[in-house]
Amino acid sequence: MKGVEIVLELCSAPGGWTQVLRELDGSLQIVAIDLDPMPPVQGVHFIQGSILDDEIIAKAENLAGTPFDLVLSDCSPKVSGQWDLDVVRQLELAERTYDIAHKVLGPKGKALAKVFQGQGFHEFLVETRKRFNSVKIIKPPASRKTSAEIYLLAIGPRKKAQSKKK
Ligand SMILES: C[S@@+](CC[C@H](N)C(=O)[O-])C[C@H]1O[C@@H](n2cnc3c(N)ncnc32)[C@H](O)[C@@H]1O
Repeated sequence: MKGVEIVLELCSAPGGWTQVLRELDGSLQIVAIDLDPMPPVQGVHFIQGSILDDEIIAKAENLAGTPFDLVLSDCSPKVSGQWDLDVVRQLELAERTYDIAHKVLGPKGKALAKVFQGQGFHEFLVETRKRFNSVKIIKPPASRKTSAEIYLLAIGPRKKAQSKKK
């Protein structure tokens, strides 16, 4: 992957994406985080914990010792069965993903995360656009036209012009 040497993978278990990353580029440095355990992947630093915990994120930054080039996130909350609640939790994880990305990425760093277009998505998109130089919505060809699932690619955290909303 051009320009990508070090990756932070959020919500990585059971490790499907991690394996793909490793196969794509054997020299990538990867730090992965998940609440659940994950089988070891060669050369991957895995941290078991919540991405909502600042200490876990600090641990990932310390392990890296340098800004990340890419943040990848595939977070899904444990499903409660209540659609509205699940959408709110999913959006919280997406917001947290871009907060983390804004903090840990270098100036040309990229963040790619799966996001659901539910309630609150528009406000979230507006805020994210303020904090990154470029934000693109990607709808994978395999995803059904009616599916609410999209990927959001944000490039270049704007470190000085931070939005007021946290
Ligand atoms: C769809 S799975 C990820 C699958 C993974 N990308 C793969 O390819 O194997 C979603 C993951 O989000 C994790 N997750 C949910 N909330 C989390 C949190 N607060 N912190 C860390 N991981 C979380 C879950 O434990 C679950 O493993």
